[in-house]
Amino acid sequence: MKPQTPPQTYRVKSFGCQMNVYDGERMAELLGERGIQPAADGEDADLVILNTCHIREKAAEKVYSDIGRLVLAGKQSEAKGGRPPMIAVAGCVAQAEGDEIMKRAPAVSIVVGPQAYHRLPEMLDKAAKGERATDTDMPAIAKFDALPARAKRGPSAFLTVQEGCDKFCTYCVVPYTRGAEISRPFLHLIAEAHKLVEAGAREITLLGQNVNAWAGEDDKGRPTGLAGLIHALARIDGLARIRYTTSHPNDMDEALIAAHGEVDKLMPYLHLPVQAGNDRVLKAMNRQHTVDSYLKLIEKFRAVRPDIALSGDFIVGFPGETEAEFADTLRIVDEVRYAACFSFKYSPRPGTPAATLDFQIAPEVMDDRLTRLQARLTDHQYAFNQASVGKTCTVLVERAGRFPGQWVGKSPWLQSVWFEGEYAIGDLVEVTLAEAGTKSLKALVSASV
Ligand code: SAH
Ligand code: SF4
Ligand code: F3S
Repeated sequence: MKPQTPPQTYRVKSFGCQMNVYDGERMAELLGERGIQPAADGEDADLVILNTCHIREKAAEKVYSDIGRLVLAGKQSEAKGGRPPMIAVAGCVAQAEGDEIMKRAPAVSIVVGPQAYHRLPEMLDKAAKGERATDTDMPAIAKFDALPARAKRGPSAFLTVQEGCDKFCTYCVVPYTRGAEISRPFLHLIAEAHKLVEAGAREITLLGQNVNAWAGEDDKGRPTGLAGLIHALARIDGLARIRYTTSHPNDMDEALIAAHGEVDKLMPYLHLPVQAGNDRVLKAMNRQHTVDSYLKLIEKFRAVRPDIALSGDFIVGFPGETEAEFADTLRIVDEVRYAACFSFKYSPRPGTPAATLDFQIAPEVMDDRLTRLQARLTDHQYAFNQASVGKTCTVLVERAGRFPGQWVGKSPWLQSVWFEGEYAIGDLVEVTLAEAGTKSLKALVSASV
């Protein structure tokens, strides 16, 4: 590889979950600290970071087509006297397939895993000298200590509190790409939350692959779980809303359930994936919970917070799933009446136990099941939105709407809500929900708070 001019502008493209987006923001902040600026809209960047996701095959394969496109664009720009971009691959594909990327894609200068990106500046120096750099170490907590302060962003911010997964669901790559479960220390998180609020955040979403597995010691040295952290964050002036995602049913504790009845700033929303509605399938997935234990948990949340909005993730077509077992998934959807959901076709992932199971399900069967499941989920989402009409609530303004004077934000139940008036991004506006669609609601303004 030839030596390359050190980049002055960058673009980070994040393809994965919210933690992947958080990592993308932190990489941007690292580059900013080095004086490297975000490329203007429509302009080529000197450095492109593809922040990848490995969760399903489609997501993982995308990285190679993206690299191809960047190489082509680089050649065109070279022909006009410009220079091709420096290409870095970050994220979970980098972690899982770093060596293969280096072999398959000679144009890539840097491969950096999700636990190693704090070392990006040194890797850039190496790449500038013409040496390719790979770092997929998993030094756990060291990353966070090495990152700069939080930059100014929108009113809703992400804060990673927990990383990794020890659950080993048989279909999932996350334990391999993100490593073992670790919790960031309480005081670091309180400090980062303060920084986010100073930078303009009014809502913080606590992130973790198993966020409710977070454990630490509070400022007095007492052991505490996520509920304790939420109580402490709620004491930060200027912070109006707290959310957390993604929870695992087996890591739920009574204190976190109770927090939904105790902490006003904790929003009435819970993302609690169940994946399937049949115990045999759940066992084959190694979920280590049953349909019944899941439903009992949901009941407990509803007892302390009757209006709580529930969301989940579903996989259809896990190897061996019969039509009757799939029908159980439709049944649990009807039973829970989710406000929102994500649903996926099972995708066999290299190195996971389920990928080599017999009775893989034919693609057309998966398509059919996904269509039926999504239709059912959409019905429930619409019903939930319909049932919200007439309620008054606050909306946190996140962006301007399509037309002048229109604003779009989120209700406490994470619904997308739009309304008209003279407001600014970051305002908390009290509204009455007036009309419901499947994906959003129209509101009338009652007051500004
Ligand atoms: N830790 C979280 C979610 C991690 S991945 C949890 O356990 O809930 C996000 C979602 O992707 C999962 O909930 C699952 O529904 C889906 N997923 C993971 N692996 C998959 C695979 N191999 N094929 C299809 N969907 C998958
Ligand atoms: Fe993957 Fe299961 Fe861990 Fe979630 S709990 S990240 S689905 S292995
Ligand atoms: Fe994807 Fe990695 Fe997140 S595989 S879903 S970016 S943890």
